Amino acid sequence: MTAPIEPGESAPRERVLIFDTSLRDGEQAPGYSMNLTQKLAFAHALSDLGVDVIEAGFPAASPGDFESVRQIAQRVRRPIICGLARCQSGDIESGARALEGAEHPRIHLFLSTSPIHREHKLRMSREQVLETAIASVRQARTLCDDVEFSAEDALRTEPEFLVEIFSAAIAAGASTINIPDTVGYTTPNEIAALFARLKREIVGIERAVMSAHCHNDLGLAVANSMAAIENGARQVECTINGIGERAGNAALEEIVMLLRTRPGYYNIDTGIDSTRLYPTSRLLASLTGQNVQRNKAVVGENAFAHESGIHQHGMLRHRSTYEVMKPEDVGFARTNLVLGKHSGRHALRERIEHLGLQVDDVALNSVFERFKILADKKKEVFDSDVEALLLGLDPDA
Ligand code: KIV
Ligand code: ZN
Repeated sequence: MTAPIEPGESAPRERVLIFDTSLRDGEQAPGYSMNLTQKLAFAHALSDLGVDVIEAGFPAASPGDFESVRQIAQRVRRPIICGLARCQSGDIESGARALEGAEHPRIHLFLSTSPIHREHKLRMSREQVLETAIASVRQARTLCDDVEFSAEDALRTEPEFLVEIFSAAIAAGASTINIPDTVGYTTPNEIAALFARLKREIVGIERAVMSAHCHNDLGLAVANSMAAIENGARQVECTINGIGERAGNAALEEIVMLLRTRPGYYNIDTGIDSTRLYPTSRLLASLTGQNVQRNKAVVGENAFAHESGIHQHGMLRHRSTYEVMKPEDVGFARTNLVLGKHSGRHALRERIEHLGLQVDDVALNSVFERFKILADKKKEVFDSDVEALLLGLDPDA
């Protein structure tokens, strides 16, 4: 939901559509495949999270993919359900058939536009690519009202050709034009300039939504997506935990929390219920058996963990000292002040009191000395260790 305009705010807040492709770009990465039951469970979780579009799969890729798009289309009613298709007649027909039961169906067409892909992959001229795109958008529009057109490898394509092909795609009936950084090659400044130019020059752009789809090969997928949003993208394609081809896609949870944590900077909302981010991330990890790295932004185990004494002391005084988001805002139970060799007296006292116990300063000093000796031997000191230390026992024995 778009937030109401706050008193004193000058510009109305805008809305960016969250297009989740975990079940298509994410699922096609090695190690992340899911069966039909798992895909359905995850699609329901994405709907509960509040995504606007679920890219459910690539129906022409396999009978299994077709069936999962068909079932998700029939059972997940609120979001737009999207099926990917190459600019080929058979793909478009298969996409439309898979989406027949959807409340809000979308066909997502893609065709390479860059000179590298035109020469080595498609063996097609610029003119052939342009004609194929136009014919495919027209065909898709006879089967579905909502058609997205993606220029694969857009960030290595001549900008003037992008202007030409997107103007033609909109004239043929596309309502979303997607500008993918297919190989994660661009930089924030470069993609910002491209989006600004496309917004200025594409004919009919006021009738279409500009979309960003960034890969993470050089670690810039989220930064590039944000630069695109700042320059007119009003749909962003992303995945939970940043899963996706090679180094992945832009991480949905990072984009959402950037927009939410810096509302004055971006002035843009999403429809995401951020308290469902962590549960959705955990669900994906358990369905795929692929753990999330500990230090992953927003949803990693360490995202709200503090071990250093200085940080723990600051956090105990005021959480804003070392946290820019509240853990409960992303569905984490609470900040985790990890007791370890870097922790100080304040954190130890807080833990003791949290366990319902009391110590005076003299007792705390003595427990603290033994705590440091133990912490040097262990990676983490648990509540049971603290209780043993207070009882004068040796937790390491
Ligand atoms: O990365 C890419 O170019 C894609 C397209 C199919 C949109 O995933
Ligand atoms: Zn992609």
